[in-house]
Amino acid sequence: MTDHIVEKIGYNLHKRPDHPLGIIKSVIEEYFDATYGKDTFTSFDDMYPIVSTYANFDSVLVPPDHVSRSANDTYYVDESNVLRCHTSAHQLEMLKEGARKFLVTGDVYRRDSIDATHFPVFHQMEGVRVFESSEWEEKGVDAVDLARDELKATLEGLATHLFGEVEMRWVDAYFPFTEPSMELEIFFKGEWLEVLGCGVMEMKILEEAGLGDKRAWAFGLGLERLAMVLFDVPDIRLFWSDDRRFTKQFKAGMFRAGGVDMAKFKPYSKYPPCLKDVSFWLPEEAEKFTENNLCEVVRDAAGALVEEVKLIDEFENKKTGRTSNCFRIVYRSMERSLTDEEINEIQEKVRENMVAQLGVELR
Ligand code: DAH
Repeated sequence: MTDHIVEKIGYNLHKRPDHPLGIIKSVIEEYFDATYGKDTFTSFDDMYPIVSTYANFDSVLVPPDHVSRSANDTYYVDESNVLRCHTSAHQLEMLKEGARKFLVTGDVYRRDSIDATHFPVFHQMEGVRVFESSEWEEKGVDAVDLARDELKATLEGLATHLFGEVEMRWVDAYFPFTEPSMELEIFFKGEWLEVLGCGVMEMKILEEAGLGDKRAWAFGLGLERLAMVLFDVPDIRLFWSDDRRFTKQFKAGMFRAGGVDMAKFKPYSKYPPCLKDVSFWLPEEAEKFTENNLCEVVRDAAGALVEEVKLIDEFENKKTGRTSNCFRIVYRSMERSLTDEEINEIQEKVRENMVAQLGVELR
């Protein structure tokens, strides 16, 4: 695991009241206060992001062969600990500690591709609500129906609170920890946008928590994605920027329900990008090379100066059977002009490490 990731621990952007992520977090917490009564839902936002593989995967029933367990997708601290890849990692432990209605917000970490909407650290909010058997018995309804119907109503209300009167649709989904599982999408600025995932919690989790006679719903959402659309923030790296031109545009309390009359982010002129292409033959064992690994090498050398890494050409040499890739790396700072010198230096380091760590042959 590399320095540029480790040093993000403790930033806690979601705990900064005047930061866009902190603002969205508060708005959602306020919605739950308004909907269920003040402090009915308890908010947790300082759970440490290094968790056991048990918490991150097993406790929420992620199957042993699921891709998210691979070291290509998740940052391993050691064999049995990871940087959490979702806030769902805390569901079981919170239930065991006695929480019954709660929200958990925190930074989560994923190895991934690089572009304007992906950063290896982002923020999620998890919500869980447990039902007592008396709740469905009194109403004379099925427990799962009760949980699902309330979940849908609550989250539709949340979406309306955030986005106003938008068109919404529910899409069937799969999560290992819920059944049924679904995703909520809203029609926003001409396209369907996925807002969150949710479902009725698998009984196995409740049983593990000693709550086998109860039912629960759960949801999870990404704060960056919401903040990007609600505030018109064009690049996910801006959330990490100290530039006053960014930070001074956000203030606790600025959110207006439904996005109505709310100030949007006013972009300041961008600094010019610097493009570098790199062509190479994949290693003999082609699966040793992955785009996520390449992105990690680039992030390692460039930190937040990299804006995008994309495959622009690929072909196979029929004679040798080897495959060539060409990736374009776009460098750009959110805060200043880059010099040729520093980019050449970074690019050189990237090329060296591609050979040393990924086993490619540069062309
Ligand atoms: N953990 C899921 C993710 O990271 C999000 C999620 C989906 C959380 C459904 C939930 C849930 O609690 O019920 O993609």
